[in-house]
Amino acid sequence: MKISIFGLGYVGAVSLACLARDGHQVIGVDVDAAKLAMLRDGTTPVVEEGMVDLVRQVAASGNVSVTDDVNAAIRDSEISLICVGTPSAPNGSQDQSAVLRLSADIGRALARKTEPHVLVFRSTLAPGTVENVVKPIIERESDKPEGKGFHLCFQPEFLREGTSIRDYDKPPFTIVGASNPYPIEKLRQLFGHLPCEFIETSIGTAEMMKYCCNNFHALKITFANETARLCEALGVDPFEVMQLVCQDRQLNISPAYLKPGFAFGGSCLPKDLRATNYLARSHDVELPMLGAILESNRRHLQHAIDKVLATGARRVAMVGLSFKTGTDDLRESPLVMLAEALIGKGVKLSIFDPDVSLSRLLGSNKRYIESLLPHIGELIGDDLDAALAGADLVVIGTTSAVVLDELERRVAPQQRMLDLVNVRNGRFEGRSIAGLCW
Ligand SMILES: NC(=O)c1ccc[n+]([C@@H]2O[C@H](COP(=O)([O-])OP(=O)(O)OC[C@H]3O[C@@H](n4cnc5c(N)ncnc54)[C@H](O)[C@@H]3O)[C@@H](O)[C@H]2O)c1
Repeated sequence: MKISIFGLGYVGAVSLACLARDGHQVIGVDVDAAKLAMLRDGTTPVVEEGMVDLVRQVAASGNVSVTDDVNAAIRDSEISLICVGTPSAPNGSQDQSAVLRLSADIGRALARKTEPHVLVFRSTLAPGTVENVVKPIIERESDKPEGKGFHLCFQPEFLREGTSIRDYDKPPFTIVGASNPYPIEKLRQLFGHLPCEFIETSIGTAEMMKYCCNNFHALKITFANETARLCEALGVDPFEVMQLVCQDRQLNISPAYLKPGFAFGGSCLPKDLRATNYLARSHDVELPMLGAILESNRRHLQHAIDKVLATGARRVAMVGLSFKTGTDDLRESPLVMLAEALIGKGVKLSIFDPDVSLSRLLGSNKRYIESLLPHIGELIGDDLDAALAGADLVVIGTTSAVVLDELERRVAPQQRMLDLVNVRNGRFEGRSIAGLCW
């Protein structure tokens, strides 16, 4: 394939070398004349394991040329990878000036081209940039609509500096965000041979997941380091602790707890986080990340309160009350807190949770509800129909299949639903249902 690569930093230079190694004709484009000269001479413009030999080899192969001429690069290639830098601006926003300037130049170059051209954005870009910012620039400058003459897509780059050639050859996956199949097929030809899954998605998802991956990596590092600081103060070996934490592949290093849903609660997480933060404070150890978790959880609860109130519903039925499905435990249940907030706002509430009703019947939770939550206790009924009667809005806080089957049969067409726990999955088709964040 004939490929042009714009931006010959870590991402662009490594991509250029690897694509040329794989037999493609690659044109490197950069505004930095020194980088162009180095590549022309067979020298790597970035210090990376394996790049000295690889660049020498591909320069000698005749598969690489370099230029600062955007027109020529677009004219002489069928696909372009855009790998220019997107650093932080002083206010923390993404400085997109290089991408935007280059997009205008590429648009003008496309105006002179008749063959279809694929533009693959590999620079990390804030979600929405490709479709809402870059596309209008290129359409304006080329005087062509996307899909006629050029195609846009976003393919996040996952290489890590220091191991970038190895990461190029063995990425965790290839993800391509596009709005039509043409660019996806082109990229499948380029990267489909790699030993990983090739995943198609929307441009927005591809842009967002790149941010999400980097945020998750930063979160993991900070978690290990905050744990280590506390371990140090307590005289515990942080390596042994983290090694054991990582050994749990069921709950810790797994997709568990990584699905969007409602706030956490229950008898363990909030109290143990509170105790951890107290312990840190009492040893003069600062743990800003662990210290912020309960506040973030509170804001998630507030988001749910705001969503319910924004519907304007005056009569609300809550289905689910315990802190998670399958237990009657109401201690620190965020659904109890939601109920209390709604009562406080004058909303008329009815509550249905068969686990909690049963526990009252058996007497196990009776005293807890009657002494600590009497205002809520009197709203809990054991009849779903009675709870739903007259409600404008049904708040779903349980994932129990039995309860959801019943609800699906009984909820009236005019009753709106707010799903806090992501239960839709083929349910409630054609009903008026909104999610907490989806
Ligand atoms: N470095 C990494 O490990 C890594 C990994 C994944 C994703 N990314 C993302 O990839 C992008 C590139 O990162 P990098 O570290 O390779 O950047 P870099 O700063 O090393 O290189 C960017 C290059 O773009 C060039 N450039 C700027 N304007 C240009 C223009 N108009 N035309 C042509 N070239 C131009 C610069 O001269 C520079 O050589 C960033 O968005 C970054 O967030 C980087």
